[in-house]
Amino acid sequence: MAVKSTACALAPSQGLTYPHPMTLPAPNQRLSIAPMMDCTDRHFRYLVRLMTRHALLYTEMVTANALVRGRDPQRFIAYADVEHPVALQLGGADPALMAEAAAKGAAAGYDEINLNIGCPSDRVSAGRFGACLMAEPKLVAEMVHAINARLAAHSRPIPVTVKTRIGIDHQDSEAFLDDFVGAVSAAGCATFIIHARKAWLSGLSPKENREIPPLIYARAYKLKRDFPQFTIAINGGIKDLGAAAEHLNHVDGVMIGRAAYDAPYALLAQADVQLFGDTHTVLTEAEIALAYLEYAGRELAQGVKLHAVTRHAMGLFTGRPGARVWRRALAEVNGNPEPAEALKGLRALVTRNVNDLTLNLREELAA
Ligand SMILES: Cc1cc2nc3c(=O)[nH]c(=O)nc-3n(C[C@H](O)[C@H](O)[C@H](O)COP(=O)(O)O)c2cc1C
Repeated sequence: MAVKSTACALAPSQGLTYPHPMTLPAPNQRLSIAPMMDCTDRHFRYLVRLMTRHALLYTEMVTANALVRGRDPQRFIAYADVEHPVALQLGGADPALMAEAAAKGAAAGYDEINLNIGCPSDRVSAGRFGACLMAEPKLVAEMVHAINARLAAHSRPIPVTVKTRIGIDHQDSEAFLDDFVGAVSAAGCATFIIHARKAWLSGLSPKENREIPPLIYARAYKLKRDFPQFTIAINGGIKDLGAAAEHLNHVDGVMIGRAAYDAPYALLAQADVQLFGDTHTVLTEAEIALAYLEYAGRELAQGVKLHAVTRHAMGLFTGRPGARVWRRALAEVNGNPEPAEALKGLRALVTRNVNDLTLNLREELAA
């Protein structure tokens, strides 16, 4: 991997200078699946990989503290080889601790370290990380610098990227975002994922903060125009590949969260063809269900609760005949004292109803 040294065109407004920041190219950001707590764990990421080879996958946010000082860091960091390219998202505000956590991510083989500077949850703000750090670009730059310095010594250095918003509270001007990006990039970050709405740090729940502040895509487009040398990906409210393709006329990448979780097949089955020009064979929903249930069986044998795996497949048949039957069958797995039997039942359900449950995508494409 080529290591690029970029002297930032904009001097950091906060008085810090990093004369030779290490800026590594990030994995292809053209399409990525957003980090989502309780959703994008390794099981869901495995499911997504059955549909797209190219989308970049993000972990749920892991706090640096949990990785470095927690009792079971493996729980947060484990992933399957097939998940590559896969990025580890970290939350924290202590540069040394973040560097330590990033080193663990690099050692585990992750392709990118992403900093969460966009999450507005109270718990996160109280710990002084997430979106509230938009007001502290100097600290974010210090984290990027500390991580880069630590990873430079690593046998396989990996890039640091930042996921953030267009602003917080009343600090939501174009100049505010430009200053933030200018300061952070000077420490060696050349990739920014912009959730194109601001966050209100008090008064709104995290869920409301994903819905109420208006999406202003033009702000992310403007950021790309202001910083053409950086990779800018856009996030927020993107519901289908057509919308993704439209955004790609303005920015370098599109990150999709809820739409990918709620209806992964509807969203992703065509992603490699439409966004990456890769015409590999696309499995049908039923083929994917069977492959995922195989995986679930292997995880079950390793002591993982069946429901922890199968809960992520609720949206697999969204929009297809049989979707409700499938969801009901999956819901019944929860608490079933005989998971091996439940798994057999799910396999039988898919096999029995294969014609109702799926539309063969290949036939559809050939028509
Ligand atoms: C259930 C849930 C959990 C989330 N957890 C995280 C997280 O851990 N880190 C993060 O940066 N964003 C998190 N987000 C925000 C998403 O990454 C994304 O920015 C947001 O949902 C907007 O994108 P979308 O409209 O495509 O869903 C979460 C969103 C949801 C719905």
